[in-house]
Amino acid sequence: MKKAWWKESVVYQIYPRSFCDSNGDGIGDLKGIRSKLGYLKELGINVIWMSPVYKSPNDDNGYDISDYQDIMPEFGTMEDFDQLLQEAHEHGIRIVMDLVVNHTSDEHPWFIESRSSRENEKRDYYIWREPVDGHEPNNWGSAFSGSAWEWDEKTQMYYLHCFSKKQPDLNWENPKVRDAVFEMMDWWCQKGIDGFRMDVISMISKKEGLPDVSTDGGLYGNCMYGTCNGPHVHEYLQEMNRRVLSKYDVMTVGECAGVTIEEAKKYANSENTELNMVFQFEHTSLDAGPMDKWCKKPIFLPDLKENLSKWENELEDVAWNSLYFNNHDQPRMVSRLGDNSPLSAKCIATVLHMMQGTPYVYQGEELGMTNCPFGSIENYRDLESINAYHELTEAGLRQPEELLECIAYKSRDNARTPMQWSEEKNAGFTEGTPWIMVNPNYTEINAQKELADPDSVFHYYQKLIWLRRFSQWSDLIVYGQYQLLAPEHTQVFAYTREYEGQKLLVLCNLSGQEADFEIPDSVTWEKEELLLGNYGEAKLSKKIKMKPWEASIWSLLS
Ligand code: NOJ
Repeated sequence: MKKAWWKESVVYQIYPRSFCDSNGDGIGDLKGIRSKLGYLKELGINVIWMSPVYKSPNDDNGYDISDYQDIMPEFGTMEDFDQLLQEAHEHGIRIVMDLVVNHTSDEHPWFIESRSSRENEKRDYYIWREPVDGHEPNNWGSAFSGSAWEWDEKTQMYYLHCFSKKQPDLNWENPKVRDAVFEMMDWWCQKGIDGFRMDVISMISKKEGLPDVSTDGGLYGNCMYGTCNGPHVHEYLQEMNRRVLSKYDVMTVGECAGVTIEEAKKYANSENTELNMVFQFEHTSLDAGPMDKWCKKPIFLPDLKENLSKWENELEDVAWNSLYFNNHDQPRMVSRLGDNSPLSAKCIATVLHMMQGTPYVYQGEELGMTNCPFGSIENYRDLESINAYHELTEAGLRQPEELLECIAYKSRDNARTPMQWSEEKNAGFTEGTPWIMVNPNYTEINAQKELADPDSVFHYYQKLIWLRRFSQWSDLIVYGQYQLLAPEHTQVFAYTREYEGQKLLVLCNLSGQEADFEIPDSVTWEKEELLLGNYGEAKLSKKIKMKPWEASIWSLLS
């Protein structure tokens, strides 16, 4: 297997709006991030992925960009950005930018021109269609509720927006759009950034003829079916790779809604003709309902094991995995798979961090930050949650109370509450009024407290990262072959890793009850060394009784 720095890295995702506010306006900013580089260095990560910091009217918190080459004023200036980049590099930390080019903001000059007249030279930068029988051109729904088509009074046509109506989709079939995007990417690379996380990049090539798609029993057709892994997506990414990426030493991760193993082998192929790796969504969709994500079904452990193991085994040697449980679109995994306790946070982290792939830590995950008790719908800020609540209750498809419970469990806002730095007012995030409520548990869960406690979730993450990046087991953890043990066991997630004669055993009881576990005969060893465990001491034998949420990592010697 070819070695690469991005395979050996641990990435930390920052959601700038909620990370650290330096000027008291209640919104996190670039200076705030700069002030925490020491903290991140101490954690041990070496790459930061920043959610978008570009100029944006913030309909979708920066995922609606009105200028790709400017910084959102609330976050600071381009000078602040340059300083952050330089200081991060001085700390040995690289910076990966969020590249949002499936769509722009409707306030982007390209769209302003495009909608100005049917004849405008930028008309074809976006996807415009005539009405069909006086209606929308097809049944596609926006990921944020309602139709994916918006009627434009002035020019009497519809435009496509797979997300909010303030996020019109770019027309990638137009070579001028590709030129403009690649030129902009090149500009950022010239600045010295270290890579791109590519927002819904699997959606840039729409299905030929924009056909109706299945509604899955909902009000609209799922626009993902008409857009994911479309006919030209690999061609476009290969062009991007040739024209931009291959000229720089950058890392790339594509957010690939709807990606299958077969598709991932193309996107993240080890010949590196497209991207380095993808974010897949199968494992985070295991607890979705039949129509949408708004349900409280628990994740069934054997399903999770089967799914993650499939990705581990099938991409081995031919592509590369990203490893994540949390990000700004997911509720907190410690509240979803765990029971909010520090022990469960450590156990979940162990499962992920010892796998093959590049791990991603989402801000606050390293503290065991949990879902937030928002209460009423008025306390939510995310348009996905708010729109779904109104659309589904008003259509009579869901009862308000029941839906609100599901939103409390699954809303993206759970990940977006301010980072909990200390016991001070507003968790030390801001001197002003935070843009979204602070999770009231900040007096218990905060960085200041955890930094002072050697047994904290923070220090456990620090050890996991140290094992992967700096220990004598680094190559084994990064490159070793993965093998799942006891796939049917409903409580324990166990696997081995092997590399050039070294062997690792990972045992995680992902339940709040004791678990009996027998190590299969295929695993043999003579001596063992405990590398890390969330109960401190642990003993290994063929048959073991694991404590609730117990996790242990063993080096096996024969
Ligand atoms: C995926 C991003 O992660 C999400 O936050 C955003 O709302 C959509 N793409 C639209 O850009």
